[in-house]
Amino acid sequence: MSSLTRTQHTVLIVDDEADLRALVVESLSAEGFAVAEAADSAEAHERLKAFAYDAVVIDLRLPDADGMELLDAALSRYPDILAVMMTGFGGVAEAVTAIKRGAVDFLIKPFQVAQLSRVLSLGLDQRRLRQENAELRAQLRERYRFDNVVGQSTAMQQIFGTLELVAPMNSTVLIQGETGTGKELIARTIHHNSPRADQRFVAFNAAAIPDTLAEAELFGHAKGAFTGAVSARIGRFELAHRGTLFIDEVGLMPLPLQAKLLRALQEREIERVGESRPVKFDARIIVATNTDLKRLVRDGAFREDLFYRLNVIPMTIPPLRDRREDIPLLARHFVQKSCRNNNLPTKHLLQDTVRVLMSYAWPGNIRQLENAIEHAVAMTGPERDLPPSALPEDILQPATSLLLPTVAIPDEGINFTSVVSQLERELILKCLEKTGGNKRQAARLLNLSRTTLIDKLNRLSLADQETVAS
Ligand SMILES: Nc1ncnc2c1ncn2[C@@H]1O[C@H](COP(=O)(O)OP(=O)(O)OP(=O)(O)O)[C@@H](O)[C@H]1O
Ligand SMILES: [Mg+2]
Repeated sequence: MSSLTRTQHTVLIVDDEADLRALVVESLSAEGFAVAEAADSAEAHERLKAFAYDAVVIDLRLPDADGMELLDAALSRYPDILAVMMTGFGGVAEAVTAIKRGAVDFLIKPFQVAQLSRVLSLGLDQRRLRQENAELRAQLRERYRFDNVVGQSTAMQQIFGTLELVAPMNSTVLIQGETGTGKELIARTIHHNSPRADQRFVAFNAAAIPDTLAEAELFGHAKGAFTGAVSARIGRFELAHRGTLFIDEVGLMPLPLQAKLLRALQEREIERVGESRPVKFDARIIVATNTDLKRLVRDGAFREDLFYRLNVIPMTIPPLRDRREDIPLLARHFVQKSCRNNNLPTKHLLQDTVRVLMSYAWPGNIRQLENAIEHAVAMTGPERDLPPSALPEDILQPATSLLLPTVAIPDEGINFTSVVSQLERELILKCLEKTGGNKRQAARLLNLSRTTLIDKLNRLSLADQETVAS
């Protein structure tokens, strides 16, 4: 065999016809393969013992043995070897048997060497993809082992306990928690520790998709089901078949879609929009919400029957301020992560910095902490220490109060009700302004149900009219 470069694939050709071997060696070498030859089964065994070839091409009729036995021997020594069989015209039935025993393909003599090279290239490509896939899966599993979820507080210990019990099951999980508390991380961790880990984790965010498109996104649609549906598409439910479907912000799902979701979960089948043929699905359902679903049920914004359907295994992730003992651990975890991502040696969190982090309220929870650390790592450049001054300003000088500095309290006191409703009004207007008038999004920013917001809007504008009238 000629000199071997790292990416060069190695092939062993086993055939008693010297002419055929010579032809194959010449053509495959010209295409960049490194080719070795064997004239019979005994020689092939010797070569296979000495070297792990990427592929072996075997004539079914060898002078000293059956090619099938050589195939078995090659595959049992190297389960990943690509085996291609050659046979005369009468040997098709045998060749098919060879495929059942693990060969990837067969060629009927006489064949063009180009055909052989195509079969080899294709097979080797597929093998590489398969291997890369397996490696990626292994890496993902690594990423989502429980120890990627950091925490030592009692609350987190309880969550680890629940994760261990729940991950292997098929039950629906309802994850509740404020923004940035790690709901999606927990959902992915459940998936990656479940028997479905090798299948897809499909996420659907009920808040990110306009109501009009949400149903088709979730359930798929037929061609022409609605304007713009130029071709048929499968939805997230079908994409997640045998895997996990993660429905994020489930509390923001419009009521008609809630009804359809409920039916899907009850029947374990869905209907694509514009089709009346039901399709079975097998997806594990995990949902998350940062609004209290029970409250939404009380407000009439969330179906009670759906709530019970989803609330099989509830997990509540407490806000960071209620588990401050996790802050130093998380902060160090993020320092490591951020330094690693930036190819920096791990920086040292000064004790003063930890103290500042511990005393802050973290309205954005772990995501905000992660961003603050990333900011600090970037601000310190090559320095090894992370001093408090490297943290974002709003963490160093937390506004003691969001609103009160603007409210002066005169000696004669204030009208409590009117100041509070003024605050309410300003808050709502500010959020509406931020969302360009979108009430659903504004309600989300305020952590109110949409109906409550609309109620308040009505009340506030009524109040306006009264003022004008009086
Ligand atoms: N316990 C934890 N250990 C380590 N990292 C965490 C932990 N919890 C959350 N994180 C990290 O914090 C970030 C925010 O988490 P995630 O996106 O899961 O939050 P979320 O609850 O889904 O937020 P939102 O409600 O805003 O969608 C992610 O980068 C996540 O990896
Ligand atoms: Mg999320």
